[in-house]
Amino acid sequence: MEKVFISQNEEQTAMIASQLSELTQVGDVWALHGTLGMGKSVFARAFIQNLTDAEEVPSPTFTLVQMYSAPSFEIYHYDLYRLEKPSEIFELGVEETFYNGVCLVEWPEKMENLAPRNMWNVTFEQVENGRKITVLASDENKVQRLQKWLNTK
Ligand SMILES: Nc1ncnc2c1ncn2[C@@H]1O[C@H](COP(=O)(O)OP(=O)(O)O)[C@@H](O)[C@H]1O
Ligand SMILES: [Mg+2]
Repeated sequence: MEKVFISQNEEQTAMIASQLSELTQVGDVWALHGTLGMGKSVFARAFIQNLTDAEEVPSPTFTLVQMYSAPSFEIYHYDLYRLEKPSEIFELGVEETFYNGVCLVEWPEKMENLAPRNMWNVTFEQVENGRKITVLASDENKVQRLQKWLNTK
């Protein structure tokens, strides 16, 4: 199941992200696809800030991952732009975060075949009047949560 949003500006992307954060649960991996400047970090920041008291959410470009604490789980913000090979993700010792926490992953393509299965795939594309954000729910559990969430909007 796919849900498409058109976002005219940064604030609208942040609003979509913070609302979507309400449906997340432990074990969710949010793969944020899109080229540079499409709003992946804007999305991640608002998502994290809605669930935590984090004031700053800097891009973890050099550290690759940054952790935040929400009341009932940890959130891991990945920026894999500088990942040189997929196995580095395991050298970081972070695989369990995909199961024990909620993960937001910028540049998920860098994980190649080591990417977790059943991620939320969110795609950011440039359109004339802003950004097109497509959220893909790829298993029954996600479809149900997305449907329920949409019914409350
Ligand atoms: N609709 C929009 N949604 C998100 N960001 C937008 C939008 N329109 C313009 N922008 C701008 O695009 C940039 C997105 O930056 P960022 O989130 O860091 O991109 P990415 O992480 O995808 O490289 C910001 O400067 C933001 O102000
Ligand atoms: Mg970014």
